[in-house]
Amino acid sequence: MFRQVHHMGIVVDDLERARKVLGEGWGLRVNEDRTPGADGALDATMQAQVLEFPLGEGFVRVFRPNGPDSPMGRFLAQRPGGGAHHVSLVSDTPEYDVTRLMAAGVRLWLPPTKSDWDGKSPVYFDPATTAGVIVQLWPDDGYDVSPQYHGEGVFTKLHHCGVAMRSVADARQLWVDMVGCPVDMRRSPLPEGRPVGADYDPDRPASDPVQILDMPVGQTEIEVSVPRDMRSGTGKFVERFAGQGAAIHHICPYAPDPERAVAYLNARGLQQIGVLPPARPGAPRVSWYHPKSVLGVLMEIWHDVPFDS
Ligand SMILES: [Fe+2]
Repeated sequence: MFRQVHHMGIVVDDLERARKVLGEGWGLRVNEDRTPGADGALDATMQAQVLEFPLGEGFVRVFRPNGPDSPMGRFLAQRPGGGAHHVSLVSDTPEYDVTRLMAAGVRLWLPPTKSDWDGKSPVYFDPATTAGVIVQLWPDDGYDVSPQYHGEGVFTKLHHCGVAMRSVADARQLWVDMVGCPVDMRRSPLPEGRPVGADYDPDRPASDPVQILDMPVGQTEIEVSVPRDMRSGTGKFVERFAGQGAAIHHICPYAPDPERAVAYLNARGLQQIGVLPPARPGAPRVSWYHPKSVLGVLMEIWHDVPFDS
């Protein structure tokens, strides 16, 4: 089964920009053990140079394609400047999970067939069979990051991977039935999930009316947003990018001190959307950052406010 999120993969055209945004901007460090040097490590499958930034029990991994004809080079041609590319999930039973997903109708992409797979290496599934989202299976490698690469502590884990989808039914089919991540029924009870946001208001950014499904995976979660109004930003995003049902929408690290995180990000040129709202007991404290300042990926920051605060 899938026990945790291994990483979110972001495609960029410039690794230096990635160092600036995730290194200086978020206060993360490059894992010099696995991705040393100015150009990081070669990812032979993707024909890309990769930098790995540890974040909690997982990572943010940034890829610069080595040519226009590589899989990520073609992605970059469609998304100039880059953006969120894939979600990678750690499996402690890779053979079982690959077999299980294939039985549910998911095909392999890289490698293209099961007989090409050694049973130990990561596997990308064909996004045409997973509603358009690129999902990777990462066999549990027991790897432990050296504490020297843990960063400044502005963010302590990946709180969630935000995925926008056309319908709650599509979300259940993909994440619950195929991938096998159960919904947190306490937070987002089926069949509709939890409603967020008031009626659509073009003058209130970052408050889109959506239905949310929370699917915890280890210390993070897959968070699916389904727009209730197609005029909203999430609605327009779904129209543009989720032609097959789904697209990665945002990345959300957890901030133990949200005031510090906002000051840290803003001082380093990341562009905040709106403001950090005051604390309300029991409500998460979130703020948003513009994708053009975060490697083409919409960013949310999250902090839980206890009821007794
Ligand atoms: Fe979110």
